[in-house]
Amino acid sequence: MNNKIIVEGPQKVKGIVKVSGAKNSILPLMCASLLSGSQIKLTNVPLLNDVKVLNDIINKLGRNSHLENYELTFDYVENLAVYNETISEDANRIRYSVLLLGTILAVKGRVKLPLPGGCSFSDRPIDIHLDGLKQLGAEIKEEDGFLIAEAKRLIGTDMTLRFPSVGATENLLIASVLAEGVTYLRNIAKEPEIVDLINFLNKLGAQIEFISPSEVKVTGVKELTAADTIQYEILPDRIEAATFFILGALAAEDYIIVENLRIEHSLSFLNTAQELGVKFEILDPNTVKVYKINTLEPVYVETGVYPGLATDIQPMLAVLLSQADGVSTIKDSIYPTRFQYGQELNKMNGNIEFIESGITIKGESNFSGSEVFSHDLRGGAAVLLAALIANGKTEIDNTYQIFRGYSQLKEKLESLGVVLEQEVPLHV
Ligand code: EPZ
Repeated sequence: MNNKIIVEGPQKVKGIVKVSGAKNSILPLMCASLLSGSQIKLTNVPLLNDVKVLNDIINKLGRNSHLENYELTFDYVENLAVYNETISEDANRIRYSVLLLGTILAVKGRVKLPLPGGCSFSDRPIDIHLDGLKQLGAEIKEEDGFLIAEAKRLIGTDMTLRFPSVGATENLLIASVLAEGVTYLRNIAKEPEIVDLINFLNKLGAQIEFISPSEVKVTGVKELTAADTIQYEILPDRIEAATFFILGALAAEDYIIVENLRIEHSLSFLNTAQELGVKFEILDPNTVKVYKINTLEPVYVETGVYPGLATDIQPMLAVLLSQADGVSTIKDSIYPTRFQYGQELNKMNGNIEFIESGITIKGESNFSGSEVFSHDLRGGAAVLLAALIANGKTEIDNTYQIFRGYSQLKEKLESLGVVLEQEVPLHV
């Protein structure tokens, strides 16, 4: 969908912004909910297009679920056999539909999934997902653009992921809770969203225990029937929190307050901000007050798996580093090609050079308005931040990519005093 916004810069922000539920938590929890026939109410749900798309897919495969006022309710269902084995073509619109592989395979023993879509910033393979499902006994083949996976019943096993992939960890956790016997998953991802998924699955009646921070033991159960009704609150979005923190540092009149985050989930980012010289106060475990920067030290940062610096934050961080007193470097070991936004910032008079798996950013940049493109979710957020501090008018194309990943972004920015002109109305 081709929609544009126009930003007249520079603009100042002030006030308070409340972080919404995490995109990267709601999506796996929606899939995990399908493992249980209980009535499930997820609260603090972010209003995101990906959530709507996944919810439509879930209804099409045979489970009634409806989204209302930040709550997503899955109706009670007597027998999970009602689910269709074939996932609708809509699955092609979001990458995270890949989690339905483990979900429907665990419930039905057979699943037909259109090959996944989502961000395009790199070739996003799913070999770790597939290899793990095969180790659990699934037969998987590709036919006419579909992935077909079959297993009479998944059998527990002891497996080690070659890389702590977030999505593969989620897929394999979901697939193993109903498997026969015990599954050991080793070298799993340690993101807060993973811990949250494990807590949620256990609340549904799964038996997952940590052996170490990166190993779990899953004792398979026949069905998840903890209770007739389950309620669960979605984790705050730590990437959205970092995005607004950086906006405050770049463009606050004096300061802004970011509420409803989990400081404990943002420590590596806050350490980087401190190293840079951003002035901020942690008011309580869920609130931070961030001041407009004056001088910033250049830094060398490298993304890493949690608890390292999240790859999702590096594009927005690059805009902050463009204001430092000197040359900074960002390396992304998770997605070495996630730097297309650098070309867009250079169109705005940025000073970014491309190096192996990263960029260098010359500081003291004075961005000027330009016509730019939002290549992917966080790259688009980076360009939007630059436009807000640029001199002149910036026209950002393909902003669907930004708005699909931030709940009520337009309303939140406007509540901070930002003026955005939209060429076409954006739906959420
Ligand atoms: C999740 O994606 C997030 N998405 C991403 O956030 C995030 O960037 C990523 O984790 C890393 O933290 C959601 O949670 C919805 P991975 P995921 O599997 O699960 C390679 C955002 O901006 N890999 O941990 O797809 C892969 O190519 C999005 O909110 C394989 O090689 O990430 C990448 O280099 C973007 N084979 C690395 O692992 C596989 O089977 C990390 O991928 C799977 C992954």
